[in-house]
Amino acid sequence: MKDLKEVYEERRSVNFFDSSKDLDEETLKKIMDLAVLAPSAFNLQPWEVIAVKSPEAKQRLYDAALKQPKILAAPVTLIMVGDKDAYTEANEAWWYMRDVGIPDDKILGNIDFAKNVLYNTDLKRNNFAVRNTSFLCMSLMYAAKYYGVESHAMIGFEEDKIKREFNIPDNKVVVLLISLGYFDESKTLYPRLRRKKYEEIVKVV
Ligand SMILES: Cc1cc2nc3c(=O)[nH]c(=O)nc-3n(C[C@H](O)[C@H](O)[C@H](O)COP(=O)(O)O)c2cc1C
Repeated sequence: MKDLKEVYEERRSVNFFDSSKDLDEETLKKIMDLAVLAPSAFNLQPWEVIAVKSPEAKQRLYDAALKQPKILAAPVTLIMVGDKDAYTEANEAWWYMRDVGIPDDKILGNIDFAKNVLYNTDLKRNNFAVRNTSFLCMSLMYAAKYYGVESHAMIGFEEDKIKREFNIPDNKVVVLLISLGYFDESKTLYPRLRRKKYEEIVKVV
């Protein structure tokens, strides 16, 4: 079993997937079940995932994603979708708060605050969808690594095309594509690119 530090150190964006190795649904489910422990605002989980597996669907996604070869090679690519409307009372996740004893008037107050203050412009609604779904994305890539599955995140795609091809409505955002599978051992990855240092990133005030 990998510990968390190893998961962080060993996760790479794998460019080359072994197309002869499938990713079974049981493993994908285990990855997802772990990944959804990611936090989200009010625990609203404003996300959906389309798992692109069939050769026909892969071809459509490949055409909408700058023909990135990993989409055809990987056994599955996930379309990570954020829901800009998931802060309304229609989202049943609001009511999960009842399970831990939060009273209805408090929940209704939160819904009101979300509607009238936090997410009252289209930019805020878009940020809500993208920020929260991004947490799921990273959580998912670490969960995959934990189960021995490699990943590759991509924002190189035409969102309009993906939405058209996969019937994603206008109130939703395509946040990221994530290919999952196993490394093609006949290939070599570049060494990991250097990261900015603490001093370059952190400003203590
Ligand atoms: C939001 C995001 C978008 C990315 N989009 C692409 C992409 O479209 N195509 C691609 O080949 N790599 C893409 N990458 C992979 C990055 O190039 C890669 O994560 C980075 O170079 C660091 O390498 P590492 O993940 O192996 O540590 C993306 C990564 C992230 C986080």
